[in-house]
Amino acid sequence: MSVTRTLPVERILRRTADSSLSKTLKARDLVGFGVGIIIGTGIFTLAGVEAKDNAGPAVTVSFAIGAVVAALAALCYAELASSVPTAGSAYTYTFATLGEVFAWIIGWDLLLEFGLGLATVSRSWSGYLADLFGLPSQWFGEDATVNVGAVVIIALLTVVAVTGIRQSARLTNVLVLVKVAVAVLVIVAGLFFFNADNLTPFVPPAQAPEGGSLLTSPVLSGVFGLEPSTYGIGGMLTAAAVVFFAYTGFEALANLGEETRRPDRDLKIGLLGALALCAVLYVLVSLVLTAMVPYDRIDDGAPLSAAFSSVGLSWVGALIAIGAVTGLTSVMMVELVTIGRIGYAMGRDGLLPKPIGTAHPKFGTPHRMTIIGAVVCAVIAAFTPITALSDMVSIGALAAMILVAVAVPVLRRSRPDLERPFTVPFSPIVPGLTAVACLFLMLNLDLATWLRFVGWLVLGLIVYAVYGRTHSFLADGKPGADTE
Ligand code: ALA
Repeated sequence: MSVTRTLPVERILRRTADSSLSKTLKARDLVGFGVGIIIGTGIFTLAGVEAKDNAGPAVTVSFAIGAVVAALAALCYAELASSVPTAGSAYTYTFATLGEVFAWIIGWDLLLEFGLGLATVSRSWSGYLADLFGLPSQWFGEDATVNVGAVVIIALLTVVAVTGIRQSARLTNVLVLVKVAVAVLVIVAGLFFFNADNLTPFVPPAQAPEGGSLLTSPVLSGVFGLEPSTYGIGGMLTAAAVVFFAYTGFEALANLGEETRRPDRDLKIGLLGALALCAVLYVLVSLVLTAMVPYDRIDDGAPLSAAFSSVGLSWVGALIAIGAVTGLTSVMMVELVTIGRIGYAMGRDGLLPKPIGTAHPKFGTPHRMTIIGAVVCAVIAAFTPITALSDMVSIGALAAMILVAVAVPVLRRSRPDLERPFTVPFSPIVPGLTAVACLFLMLNLDLATWLRFVGWLVLGLIVYAVYGRTHSFLADGKPGADTE
């Protein structure tokens, strides 16, 4: 019984053909949807935190580095999404190319990425809510012992996600406008308080903590039992890996391949267009923030609104907090919906218990996985700080991107006949570069993050060995192993 058995592409395409999703989305819709998923905690909270802790004003360069890596990965996603359009995205591509055990790992990894993404954003939401209404810090924001705000918002969104998301699609469009408006407001209003003195030194000199190291790679410092240094070029790269979180979520656009009118052209424009727009906003917002407030005095709960309150413009601060509270909601909604879909796809293939792969009879949503995912995320969000959570999301997303990049040349070799409406230029060079760039960013995350990530993967492999390997719908001797 081979753990590298693959899912025939024809079977995936048959599923897609049978699906009743309508092909109505255009490039413009994809850009809007992408921005709705992408802009969130990364810019509202992490930009400030990373400027303060790791990069200083050079956090703008960190955002630019993240954009390049995300764009490379987006090209690989676009090729796979246009040639194997499926709602399962990276999990399904890997199933078709590298085989079942890799697909399992990716699915397991994506659950981590989107699950902890949800937990991170819910905490950031709670921080801005507290800022807006002056709520008690022991229940809301980063100083809370039990973050009640995060738990409440996850519970509310679970009800919406289980009972149907049709209304939320329209809501998402409105929220996108709110978010972009807030980012533009920060940039324009912030220009009036732009103090170039705050931008020097642009890359603050590296600081080694006592008994620490000047090694630029946090994971290597950790291996040698040393505290990593902060600031300097190393700090800027660490921040690039951490704020990569700000770009995660664009992969969800690849899920829309089968609902896109002209996947060849529109997916590429949608993915790259959304990333480009976000990258420009991120770089400008972080530039303005670090020019307004000396980096060591940035507030790490609600950095953007606090910056305006500190210059006496509390009403702008309040508008930003309102924008953050509403805008972060669309990110959480998509993450929760994605958790449900990934679990559903894995359940349908027998890698998770079958009931998880069935939809609710009345609402037509993957309710079981949505509820299980929400409960786990709410418990984690109640107790875990944002930075620990977001680092795990970045490492999870980057690992998935490496496998997606590898899948491009593998699928070209195994299925040269497949129609490819969009192709990554200069394959295998560009996919190879993508994988190396993702690995490089991963090496800039700390040892604790790596250990937790490896621990999660080992747990996943145990679950696969005990359950998925024998229950997979491709397992030998299982009825229907060769039919859908
Ligand atoms: N990219 C999303 C955010 O920054 C997950 O919140």
